[in-house]
Amino acid sequence: MSLANRNLVTIDNISNGEIEALFSVADEMADSINEQSGLCQGKIMANLFFEPSTRTRLSFEAAMLRLGGRVITAVDIGATSLAKGESIADMAKVVGSYADIIVIRHPWEGAAKVVADYAGVPVINAGDGSHEHPTQTLCDLYTLRKERQTIKNLRIALWGDLKHGRTVHSLIYALARFGATILFYPGPGLEIPEHVLKRLSTEYKGELQRCGALNQELKGSVFPVDAIYMTPSSPHQLTMLPDVNIQVELEAGVDALYVTRLQKERQSPTAEQQELKKNYPVVDKKLLTGKEFKKTLVMHPLPRVDELAYEVDADPRSMYFKQAAYGVPVRMALLALLLGAKDVAIPKADDSFARKVDYPVYKRDSGVKCLNRNCVSNQETETKYIKPEFKIVSFDPLTLRCIYCEHELEPQYIASSEWHQGKLENKKYHSANSHWVRKIKPENLIIFPSEKEAQAHQFKPSACNRQ
Ligand code: NCD
Repeated sequence: MSLANRNLVTIDNISNGEIEALFSVADEMADSINEQSGLCQGKIMANLFFEPSTRTRLSFEAAMLRLGGRVITAVDIGATSLAKGESIADMAKVVGSYADIIVIRHPWEGAAKVVADYAGVPVINAGDGSHEHPTQTLCDLYTLRKERQTIKNLRIALWGDLKHGRTVHSLIYALARFGATILFYPGPGLEIPEHVLKRLSTEYKGELQRCGALNQELKGSVFPVDAIYMTPSSPHQLTMLPDVNIQVELEAGVDALYVTRLQKERQSPTAEQQELKKNYPVVDKKLLTGKEFKKTLVMHPLPRVDELAYEVDADPRSMYFKQAAYGVPVRMALLALLLGAKDVAIPKADDSFARKVDYPVYKRDSGVKCLNRNCVSNQETETKYIKPEFKIVSFDPLTLRCIYCEHELEPQYIASSEWHQGKLENKKYHSANSHWVRKIKPENLIIFPSEKEAQAHQFKPSACNRQ
């Protein structure tokens, strides 16, 4: 099967079977890295890196050069026409006419999706703000597979800035899909965003337990866990006591500890940042003497700052430089597949850990906007052509998920586009908590962010909204 012309904007864009197939191509690339220069001859990759990068950018470049292709690069927004006020869509159309494939890193969440929507060539997201970094996840999964043969039933602990770290956001969904158990150990104030946890608990079949109170009790312990996602295949899954579950999981040992740095460029520059830095948890030799870490792979997407002691480098459990080195064969495989230079058989993979959900889409111009200020849909240069668009992920309470950055919001007012008998006096809006939210057909649903907005659209309050 061919993966030609596909995009990789989020980890959802590639199935478990396709990941397995990509890994077999990556093995092939690694085994004969000097013999691949005929695969992408004549092809051009555009590398657009509008945030700092060493590994991702250079491993993509090395991968394309090893495949016999060529690379064009832009690394500074200030040196492109984006600085003159050009939109991402216009840039994407132009670059798409110069290159056969685009790799983009951008500080705005959802920017890679916009490039993919307009470029007309395959687009790979190399990191969009705090949202996702799917190719890092491919390198992480490839490392786990190499070291442990499987991902199913592994216990993976995620450590550090889980709020802003895009690598962990992509990794969480992938681990859940492959049937791993996930232990969350965020730095204080850097917990996983609520929308990520919510998605984890509704779209995957494992069980999510939050251990907030328990965390307090365990403060003095070596490994206070904040939340745990237990794969459905875990034997303790139905025990409702988080402390018992965590003890049992830890007794069995952690298979990998995934450390991340404080994403200081994504915090507001206040005194708070100093606090976050001061309280940031550090992985060192002493922590790794804990019996739960006896056989733990220590992983890190890199760069490291202060959160991972250099003394760990000599430890055979350290994996991070290997992980970075895998970036070349994994990205070679990805480029060759998306450029159609390679076909692979997609093995049948176990997809039973995720639920299939088809959400209704909401894209009316009724004033509802994504609340994430860093979302591409809220940027002045982009609002001229991007219309806010959401998936309706819940009716109780009514919850919209932005299709660009995946942040969620719970708007309070609704109406129907088919008001009773078409008479203007029947044009009423209702509370989103009322029974109307179920009564109005999703395709007729109009959602307002405020009463003011509903009234601006000539709707009057229904009985339940009248003071
Ligand atoms: C990560 C990133 O850019 O998100 N780096 C990488 O690509 N390996 C992690 C980070 O910057 O902390």
